[in-house]
Order: sequence, then C-alpha cells, then structure tokens
Amino acid sequence: MNTAFESLVETDVDLQPHNTLNISAKARYFASVESEHQLKGILRHPKTEGLKIMVLGGGSNVLFAEDFDGLVLHIEIKGREVVKETDDYVWLKIGAGENWHQTVRYCVGQGWGGIENLSLIPGTVGAAPIQNIGAYGVELQEVFEYLEAVDIEGRETRRYEKEHCEFGYRDSIFKGELKGIVIVTNVVLKLSKNPVLNTSYGAIQAELEKRNLDQPTIRDISDIVIDIRNSKLPNPDLLGNAGSFFKNPIVKNEIYNRIKEEYPEAPGYKMGEYKTKVPAGWLIEEAGWKGKVVGNTGTYKQQALVIVNHGGATGGEILNLADQIKKSVKEQFGIALVPEVNIVTSDGTI
Ligand code: EPU
Repeated sequence: MNTAFESLVETDVDLQPHNTLNISAKARYFASVESEHQLKGILRHPKTEGLKIMVLGGGSNVLFAEDFDGLVLHIEIKGREVVKETDDYVWLKIGAGENWHQTVRYCVGQGWGGIENLSLIPGTVGAAPIQNIGAYGVELQEVFEYLEAVDIEGRETRRYEKEHCEFGYRDSIFKGELKGIVIVTNVVLKLSKNPVLNTSYGAIQAELEKRNLDQPTIRDISDIVIDIRNSKLPNPDLLGNAGSFFKNPIVKNEIYNRIKEEYPEAPGYKMGEYKTKVPAGWLIEEAGWKGKVVGNTGTYKQQALVIVNHGGATGGEILNLADQIKKSVKEQFGIALVPEVNIVTSDGTI
C-alpha cells in the first residue's frame, strides 16, 4: 500500500524557517522528501491528485505573498557521486537537496574547478539550473551536463541534457515550458581537474591585485567571491532577503542611449550588437530607493536591488514595496523591471 502521503505530509505548516526572506506564511500541506522513491510515492498518491504543488529547495529565491493552498514539497534528496572521470574532468552527480555553497566548497577542496565563482550563492543544487544561477562572470550552464527529474504524476524519471534546457540569463526551460511539469532530483556537473580561472569581473581582479596573487588557485577565487558577496549582500540569517529581487533589464541600445543623454554615468553592459544590460540596482538607486525603510521592509543600504525584511514583514508588504519600486523605475526610465524571485500566491506561482 502507498502510505507516503500519510507518513510524510503535514498540514498547516508555517514556511518561515523555509524561506530566506523570513516571511511567515502557511502551506496547507507540506512534506520533506529525501529520496526519489518518496517523491514518486507522494506524487502518485490519490490524495495528491488535484492539489497544487510547489517545489521548495532552500527557499532563497521565493516570496510567499500569501498562504499557499496546496502541497509544498521540500526537496532534501542528498548525495554526491562521481559518475564518470577522465584525466581532465570529473562528472559529479549531486542530489537536488544538497546545499549549493557546501557543494562548491567540496569541489574546491577536491581541486575541481568551474563553480568557484558561484561561491556563497544561497539555495540548493536542484534550484541552480532552474534559474541558471550566475555571478562574477560565470553561469551554471557552463558546467552543466544533465539533470534528472521526475514527472509531476510521479510515473517516470526523465533525463534532460544541457542542449534541451534552453538556458538563458536567469532562465531555463524549467521556468518556462516545463514549469510545474517536472521536479529535479539530481544534477550532473562536468568539472575540470585543470581549472581555467575566470577573473574577468572587475571586483575579482581588484582583490587579486590587492592580495598580490598572481597565480591564484580556485580556492583563492572562491575566498575572494565569498568576501565580495559578504561585503555587498546581506546575510539572510541576520537580515531576511532573497538576493536580487529583480532581473537586470536587457534593453534596446536606443533606450540605453536615451538614458545616457540624461545620466551620462549610467552603467550598461553590451549584450550583442543591439542590446544593453542595465543594472537594476542603479535604476532603483537613481529612483531614490537605496537604503529606504518602508514599514518592516526596505532595500539594502549597500545594494538597492536587494529587498529586505527588517523583521515581521508580511509577503504582501514586500510585494507592495516591489510594486512601488517597479512603478517609479517605469515612470523615471520607461523600463519595466521583472522580478527574479518567484512570487507564490495562494493558488500558485506568478
Ligand atoms: N549599482 C548601483 N547601485 C546599487 C547596486 C548596483 O548603482 O545599489 C550598479 C553599479 O554600477 C554596479 C552595478 O550596478 O557596478 C552592478 O552591481 P553588482 O556588481 O552588485 O551586480 P548586480 O548586477 O546588481 C548581479 C546578479 C547578482 C550577482 C552579481 C555579481 C542579477 C539580477 N543579479 O547583480 O546575483 O551576485 O551580479 O555577479 O543578475 C542574485 O541573483 O540573487 C544575485 C545576487
């Protein structure tokens, strides 16, 4: 008999310990899942039929705007295993529930390069490909090989190779066509035993010079990234936040040039021939929001793109602040900011 639902699913669970914005919101049903077998058991159970399902990893990129009237599946599938190895590379299979940063440090310790620039990103390994996490000149897709996922009916395990994942800036097929259709259980990364370091990001270069490191190792890069992040981004254990709240907008060159006429110092990064990425943090700061406190919420004093919970904020309050910021950036620059965090309402993600 399939007893997975009865034994694993709790009712009316407060999600506060499960989201880094530190928002109190309830899940009607909640289950922590430690294996693919348990996951399939729950998904196939008759009581699951018809329930809205939300998958939660580290809760570091989610805003619970309301209580969730469905089943939250907290993925805690663990394990790291080398599934293939050559003189130059290892293919590491990692459980979706493993902590991302601990995995980075494990790889750094083994001398396997490729993800050291992604140190200290909060969240789990399973969430990493969904939004193609990126920082300091590196994106997950550069080391991604394939992932395994279970279909939402819990019938089968499917394998998705890199070329099928449609990776883009903070984007993948798992946020589009396959959203709500599959649940990631394992991720396989191809890591290099002879790492080529990516030191293209200005702040990394500056730190290397400051520390007189002309032959840095992947551990040096990881340590530097940790220090840079700590200096710019709030620690969610001390101040609730979900990292960058919005994506950096990619606009037509005409729009960027128009902004430049009025604000000659406006930063922008060329994206191919016709488009420019404008840092949302700059737009938000220019719109007057940096470090502003609004009730229990506000933006971080060192990084305007990060919305924070000063304590006791509701999801609705955070959403309200995000809307106000969006509105003023739209009025001042004509640019519509798009959230990077997943916003969860009572009946699903918007
Ligand atoms: N800026 C301001 N004011 C601010 C913040 C930023 O003017 O308050 C301008 C500055 O010109 C700065 C530029 O924005 O040089 C870029 O800022 P930063 O280097 O902090 O990076 P970001 O574009 O704001 C992105 C990612 C971060 C990632 C960093 C480093 C997005 C949405 N965010 O932020 O990712 O850590 O680059 O690579 O792409 C996250 O996704 O949660 C996240 C933190």
